[in-house]
Amino acid sequence: MTEQAAPRAGLEGVAVADSAIAKIDGTVGELRYCGYLIKDLADHSDFVETSALLWDGELPKQDKLAKLRTDMRQQRGLPTLALDLVQRLAGEQSPMDCLRTVVSALAIGDDVLTTDDAVNRERAIRLTAQLPTIVAAYDRVRKGKSIVEPREDLTHAANFLYMLTGTVPSDEEAEIFDTCLVLHAEHGFNASTFAARVTAATMSDIYSAVTSAIGTLRGPLHGGANTAVMNTLLEIGSVDAVEAHLDGMLARREKIMGFGHRVYKVVDPRALILKQFARDLAKQKGEPKWFEMSERLEELMKSRKGIDMNVDFYSASTYHYMGIDADLFTCVFAMSRVAGWTAHVLEQCANNRLIRPRANWVGPDDRDYVAVDQRS
Ligand code: ACO
Repeated sequence: MTEQAAPRAGLEGVAVADSAIAKIDGTVGELRYCGYLIKDLADHSDFVETSALLWDGELPKQDKLAKLRTDMRQQRGLPTLALDLVQRLAGEQSPMDCLRTVVSALAIGDDVLTTDDAVNRERAIRLTAQLPTIVAAYDRVRKGKSIVEPREDLTHAANFLYMLTGTVPSDEEAEIFDTCLVLHAEHGFNASTFAARVTAATMSDIYSAVTSAIGTLRGPLHGGANTAVMNTLLEIGSVDAVEAHLDGMLARREKIMGFGHRVYKVVDPRALILKQFARDLAKQKGEPKWFEMSERLEELMKSRKGIDMNVDFYSASTYHYMGIDADLFTCVFAMSRVAGWTAHVLEQCANNRLIRPRANWVGPDDRDYVAVDQRS
């Protein structure tokens, strides 16, 4: 019998492909998209330009970027079937269930099964333009409000907040939200991106890949953590209650959402930027509680467990200050990460091989079939 190497639980540290999209150095807390530091992109780029970078590997020249902005603005609307589905599901299904189902339905009527690069690029642009419309429409319908049509004169971020609330946001709020989208757009071979690539590698279509990714993102160990962070903050309720609540959770050996990371051994650079947004918004809104509770939790987790916050931690209070409901946070993550997912689908399709690992067999061997009436 040949000796089999023990599998790496959770594929930790296993390189599964070559990629030129995101580079993460978890030992020093550095993240780059296509070579550009995340802090530089957060300071100087915006979500649409960053999406172009992820899809093409290069920052777009002026005319290309202008065309992309126009294309995305024009493609925000949803087909009737998708709108009908949102209306049907909004009262009954969770936001992520609805998003997953509607994205899957966007494939209907499109010539689905192709891995053609040009077609996939068009679809990546359209999907990225449409996801915010699904999320905003869902929230409006479940609240008994009428759906707000997208506006072509607003930026990607401002238009989402407008469709959600019916009011055009301030430039400052739209810019903060846009930067949040930049920060969440891509992160290498995280679980949802890996799911997208596994799906794409079977030569399935980009809608299926994004649908797989949405289903994978929603779990609380991944993108679902931002909603879970807000629920923890709401449960704790006050700064004074943070310490006892945390100690109780740790004593019960519960995971504290928004902390820990498979790759980062120091603090996630995106979390630092989000922390500043939460701090600024707390001041602006005159409601320091959520920021102060978060900061206390962060300090205590560091001192009790030595574990740093991750990207989901301060995105929770940041989105809360913007008036976004907690159960929408993971959809907001998906609205951004769709750029990364689709970039990975393009990369996978450009140099494809079926992804098919193996398992070490640990079950019983050589069993004889026993008829049902003779089983003990
Ligand atoms: N709270 C308490 N303890 C933790 C946490 C946490 N958030 N994260 C890690 N630990 C502890 C574990 O209990 C474990 O301790 P042990 O060795 O004594 O058993 C040790 O640190 C290693 O943790 P693992 O879960 O094995 O680390 P892994 O790399 O598998 O998981 C993960 C990483 C899933 C992110 C984990 O840290 C976690 O569950 N965090 C909370 C959920 C979360 O915030 N997810 C979002 C991640 S970012 C993103 O996906 C966008």
